[in-house]
Amino acid sequence: MSKANQHRIHFLPAGRSAEFPEGTTIREAALQLGIVIESTCAGMGTCGTCQVNFRQGAPSPTPAEREFLRETALNQGVRLACQAALQGESICELPRDTRVFGTGADDPAAGRSRYSLDPDLRKLHFELPLPRSGEKYFYLEQVLAAIQPQVDEKIEYDFPVIRDLPALLRSGRPDLTAVLDRRRLLALESGDTRGNCYGIAWISAPPPSRRGC
Ligand code: FES
Repeated sequence: MSKANQHRIHFLPAGRSAEFPEGTTIREAALQLGIVIESTCAGMGTCGTCQVNFRQGAPSPTPAEREFLRETALNQGVRLACQAALQGESICELPRDTRVFGTGADDPAAGRSRYSLDPDLRKLHFELPLPRSGEKYFYLEQVLAAIQPQVDEKIEYDFPVIRDLPALLRSGRPDLTAVLDRRRLLALESGDTRGNCYGIAWISAPPPSRRGC
């Protein structure tokens, strides 16, 4: 049973569910469960791309939903994920065209994205060879030698990479992770950090409406 002012939503076909405070939008609830819903207008309610199908618990349509969706669709439980807010126990199906990431293991489309990913930023993990006795050993040269075979063009690097290298090596780990923007070496990190590679995307809001000016 739901706690006061909390309602459970179950997403299909991802099979993920959780309770959220009343009024949480479907888009926000999905996001908190690791499901990204296509939202061209970033949730402003102006693009109509975030359509979902309620099998249970469809909230009353908002003005934005009435503008984008036909009466028949509304009657069948179709809503905009960025506008529809939780009002009770709900079961919500995410159509294939609406889902972007995080569809879930029981979904035949799991692991596939509508977009092919080709990020500029990437991480390469490598191990530095130990210096041999009597050999001149330049750490930066060793770093570049380790990662250059995996980069198409000659690697460039900035002063902070050189500056931070001695402190990094004092941590005692022989393995490092290089952070690259195409061929530019941005940073070196201690150990294997390939699992932590994040970016920020900025979507600009549409220009304000002139109505009422
Ligand atoms: S994200 Fe554009 S209408 Fe919902």
